[in-house]
Amino acid sequence: MKTLVIVSHPYPEQSLVIKALQETAKSLPNVQVRNLETLYGHDTQAFNVAAEQRAHDGVGRVVYLFPIHWFNLTPMLKAYLNQVWGYGWAFGRDGNALQGKQMQVVVSTGATAHTYSADGLIHSNIDEVLTPMKASALYVGMTYAKPVAFFEAMGAGAEKLAGFKAALHTLLSAPTVQNTGS
Ligand SMILES: Cc1cc2nc3c(=O)[nH]c(=O)nc-3n(C[C@H](O)[C@H](O)[C@H](O)COP(=O)(O)O)c2cc1C
Repeated sequence: MKTLVIVSHPYPEQSLVIKALQETAKSLPNVQVRNLETLYGHDTQAFNVAAEQRAHDGVGRVVYLFPIHWFNLTPMLKAYLNQVWGYGWAFGRDGNALQGKQMQVVVSTGATAHTYSADGLIHSNIDEVLTPMKASALYVGMTYAKPVAFFEAMGAGAEKLAGFKAALHTLLSAPTVQNTGS
């Protein structure tokens, strides 16, 4: 089963964690990585929609890899969904291209795991913060895996980074059936 990894980071030159995780993804067989800012810069109108849609051919799992910025998706990832997940492709009449594929969201956060808890500052866990991704997945007939979050990632040291990379390696090497979070 092939995996497509869509990576987005608005400040690539400042990225430590997402950049390292992207390299892990690239090192795996049957994994195709597409970095939105590498392909299109910060131009939210520049997507090659046909190429992005074609990248899903024969793919069983789509991973979205990005940092949490203001408890949200990155601008390019949001724009990508707006344009690539078009009517007649992702939804609507004959729009079944994503049906049956698994969505796996992988994020890094600056805040602690405690912050992302009912008792924490935001009174919301990471699953709740990522509700728009879950809703989008289910709307287009994807299965939704439990999101994976790498907490307190800002300025991660070598040991922590190695742990994040190992966890992603395990996740991407495993079959898609486990880990369903919906
Ligand atoms: C503009 C901006 C907004 C951020 N907002 C959040 C946030 O809402 N929640 C959070 O946990 N971390 C937040 N962070 C921290 C980032 O999530 C963290 O630095 C990133 O995940 C680390 O990955 P990187 O090294 O690839 O940038 C923010 C960082 C920036 C630059």
